Amino acid sequence: MKKEISRRIENLLKKMKEENIDVILSTTFESSSNNPRYLSNFSGSFAYVIIAEDKQVICSDSRYWQQIGDQSPLELVKYTSENASTILHDLLGKYKRIGYECETTTVSAFNDLKKKMEAEEHVFIECDKLIRDIRISKSREEVNLILKAEEIALEALTELLNEIKPGKTEKELAALLEYLMVKKGADKPSFSTIFGSGPNGASPHMFPTMKKIQNGEFIVIDFGAAYQGYCSDITRTIAVGEPTDEMRKVYETVKKAQAEAEKAVSCHLTGQEIDKIARDIITEAGYGDFFGHGLGHGLGIDVHEAPSVSFKNTEKLQSGAVVTIEPGIYIPNQFGVRIEDDVYVTGESHEVLTNYKKELIIL
Ligand code: GLY
Ligand code: MN
Repeated sequence: MKKEISRRIENLLKKMKEENIDVILSTTFESSSNNPRYLSNFSGSFAYVIIAEDKQVICSDSRYWQQIGDQSPLELVKYTSENASTILHDLLGKYKRIGYECETTTVSAFNDLKKKMEAEEHVFIECDKLIRDIRISKSREEVNLILKAEEIALEALTELLNEIKPGKTEKELAALLEYLMVKKGADKPSFSTIFGSGPNGASPHMFPTMKKIQNGEFIVIDFGAAYQGYCSDITRTIAVGEPTDEMRKVYETVKKAQAEAEKAVSCHLTGQEIDKIARDIITEAGYGDFFGHGLGHGLGIDVHEAPSVSFKNTEKLQSGAVVTIEPGIYIPNQFGVRIEDDVYVTGESHEVLTNYKKELIIL
């Protein structure tokens, strides 16, 4: 990990030079940002990570000193109640142009920082985009962690399928899936499992309820594991008992849209162009009004990160990005279907990281 963290910091320093930033302050407070984790490998809930050409340190309180020693190659600066008000000034004071994360720093924390530095003439520069951009391109080491997160999640799904029966509730099955992932080595679920049966599946982000599974329903299961911080994000829709002809038609349409869009993933197409491949197939089948969300998103330490695979992204996908491809059709009050894989952009082509069948599973 030491070499990997050095690679990330080198990339960051190069970008900082291009953008004339002397130092970056990356903060996580109550786990508000994963940038400190990306830059230091520290997984706790509170840290300042400070990166300049001549200073690369991590500052946290005593809850985390031992953990930082175990996880991070960066030098530890101990944050204590005696020096709390001055420590940022000590660490940042000599730099003029200070990059900070405006998307995750609260207004009060920012005002506090400015007050601490008020005697001097500092310039504060938003650096969210700069860090977001370097995080897009994943190393093989990062992809291997995502692959492990995929494997854990899919083994858990395979076991769960044996337990899905009419009469069981969405909540108990979603909780079992999360338990199975952690039992198999996940840090935790990568996000709160989405589990919608029958009409509940028509809500794309359905939180599991006490509703009981019934025969003849589709279940949309959108789930993932975090492994050493890296996420998988997978959706499969399965049938409990025989689906109707309409349900089969919708399933096959989503499957085709997903497969064609996935096939096209490369650094030659924009997020918008890949989204359009799936959207056109769904629209031609007559379901365009029932696919409201974007096709996919970047995936890494955050379950949603850059780049977007939707109409919003007019830039070509960058080699090294990991993205989801997840079209869906949601028929209000009836059922929903979504199929989602995670895909690594390898320049001209791609590697599908989610190794799980997409033919309709009927239990
Ligand atoms: N897996 C949930 C989402 O991508 O929004
Ligand atoms: Mn997703």
